Amino acid sequence: MVLVAGPPGSLKSSFAYRILYYEALERGAKGLYVSLEQSRESLQNQAQSLGLQPEKADALRILDLRQLRRELRETQGPRDWFTGLAAQLARYKEEMGIELLALDSLNALYALTDVQEPRRELFDFFEDLRELEATTFLIGETPRDGSFGPFHIVEFLADGIVHLHMKEVEVGLTRSVRRYIALVKLRGVKHDLDHHPLIVDKDQFEIVGE
Ligand SMILES: Nc1ncnc2c1ncn2[C@@H]1O[C@H](COP(=O)(O)OP(=O)(O)OP(=O)(O)O)[C@@H](O)[C@H]1O
Ligand SMILES: [Mg+2]
Repeated sequence: MVLVAGPPGSLKSSFAYRILYYEALERGAKGLYVSLEQSRESLQNQAQSLGLQPEKADALRILDLRQLRRELRETQGPRDWFTGLAAQLARYKEEMGIELLALDSLNALYALTDVQEPRRELFDFFEDLRELEATTFLIGETPRDGSFGPFHIVEFLADGIVHLHMKEVEVGLTRSVRRYIALVKLRGVKHDLDHHPLIVDKDQFEIVGE
């Protein structure tokens, strides 16, 4: 389970979508992208603007909030979102298999749920997610100050944390924003801790090394 954290517009969705897309395209890996913030069309448009061809990745399904609401109503009526979503994901796993999963975003899920005991409920939800035995990307929006915001418990529970962030730089007389990517945590792996510049353009997602 990997937390993909970053401020608005830092390419969190694009980063996770891109991984699921290429896994589906190249290996036929079954992926499910749960998009609670953006509609399916909006996510696909963003992917297209980055040079991907969503219609080609047959094994990747996108479930957006509208469709999820409809399915949850049909199967179990109003319930709390953590339990409802976990049950729905288990059903998907059984019906079609899920090798890779993206949940976009934790913030949206928090907003939909009336959380009584956040730590315990999240803990239980994570247990349910682990039972899916899928490589899971959890997307979390962080405040611009660089902290991880409301995800402290997620930081402990996640096996890995990818931090996408942006920094203002002076370019001549103007200011611009540069993108960076850092691997903050990856259990069981000795990895570098550098913040690498991330260059994104149509058809290119380049992490700049030394
Ligand atoms: N063709 C492109 N080349 C480079 N960057 C692009 C291109 N198209 C869109 N972008 C950038 O992608 C950003 C949005 O990416 P994405 O939706 O993945 O970010 P996010 O971190 O998920 O944002 P949010 O917090 O709003 O969900 C835009 O703000 C824009 O700067
Ligand atoms: Mg997003």
